Amino acid sequence: MSCVSAAWSQEQDFVRSFQRSFFTMRRMDCLPLAELEERLKNRKDSTLLQHILQQTVLHPLCHKYPPSVKYRRLFLAELIKKHEMTRTEPLDDLYDALGEVLRSEELEICHKNYFLLSGENIKLGENVAIISEGTTGLVTWEAALFFAEWAMENSEVFNCRSILELGSGTGLAGIIVCMTCAPKQYTFSDCHPSVLQQLRKNILNNGLLLNLDTWNPKDCEAELKNKNLSEENQRPKITVVGLEWSEVTQEQVAELQSDIIIATDVIYDPEVVLCLISALEKFLISNEKKERCSVVYLASTIRNPETYHRFKMELDGVGIGHQVITGPTSKVFPYNRATKIELLKIYNET
Ligand SMILES: C[S@@+](CC[C@H](N)C(=O)[O-])C[C@H]1O[C@@H](n2cnc3c(N)ncnc32)[C@H](O)[C@@H]1O
Repeated sequence: MSCVSAAWSQEQDFVRSFQRSFFTMRRMDCLPLAELEERLKNRKDSTLLQHILQQTVLHPLCHKYPPSVKYRRLFLAELIKKHEMTRTEPLDDLYDALGEVLRSEELEICHKNYFLLSGENIKLGENVAIISEGTTGLVTWEAALFFAEWAMENSEVFNCRSILELGSGTGLAGIIVCMTCAPKQYTFSDCHPSVLQQLRKNILNNGLLLNLDTWNPKDCEAELKNKNLSEENQRPKITVVGLEWSEVTQEQVAELQSDIIIATDVIYDPEVVLCLISALEKFLISNEKKERCSVVYLASTIRNPETYHRFKMELDGVGIGHQVITGPTSKVFPYNRATKIELLKIYNET
């Protein structure tokens, strides 16, 4: 490769890293702003900034599925700051874009777009606040990204299997498993009505079809245009159910039996731990029919080692085994890799 084309390809990668961070609304201090400043020092024109602008705020995806207004404002302010440090002509496009953002109204739901290595992107409607309506389920957590990377590397684990996900939240992990691992059946679940509603929209927005009796078409009319809803076209068969861990009944256990149970970032407070253990006990141990022997894959960000340790002790206490599984090796999504995230395989020891 010639020096010119190597430099061009490096710049493409650099712009792509901005794009991936922008569309997942990474914090400003995680963007490669220092490198941008360095690169701009050696330039006599604004083409690099133009390129970044085209691939982010002015990209068609941003018009259809925009990050929050606040995020776009901060992002543009950073680009303007960097541009003002250079001795190039003012870049009208930057100020026009900022003007447009300043005239936009902030809505409760913004969009994040998670790019796969294939270039395909997962579009998720998420709340602008980390906690809203009393739930943590309206945003995507890092353990879901970590798990999705692992699932894509180990797709054979999920291929042709029936899967139940607990505490699905906005649905990233499950949507990626459905899109890339070819499971036979996938049941998303959560206990919170607004989370369930957003989850259904996110599933449909990514071109996946829902089992007909589990959603209200009025919720998602726009997304449903041009979709063929015949059941034969559903691969995998996808269902969304309301499931509260502390109230799991034997009927639900029989109905939702699966080969694999998945959960990401569900261990964050001691009370939740007890509810979760009681649900896992029902699905893994006191399942009267025992037609299937489920295993659980659980990815957790270890924020509080005591709570996490307690979870493991409680598992031991009810005779449920666990082993730590090596995490993903590929880096598909932008997130803080210094955070301690652990993947457990959990199974019935008896
Ligand atoms: C931190 S969020 C994680 C969401 C998603 N799995 C992720 O990783 O992005 C925890 C999720 O667990 C759900 N949850 C918490 N307690 C629950 C319970 N007792 N029964 C069912 N779901 C629960 C919440 O509604 C929320 O969606």
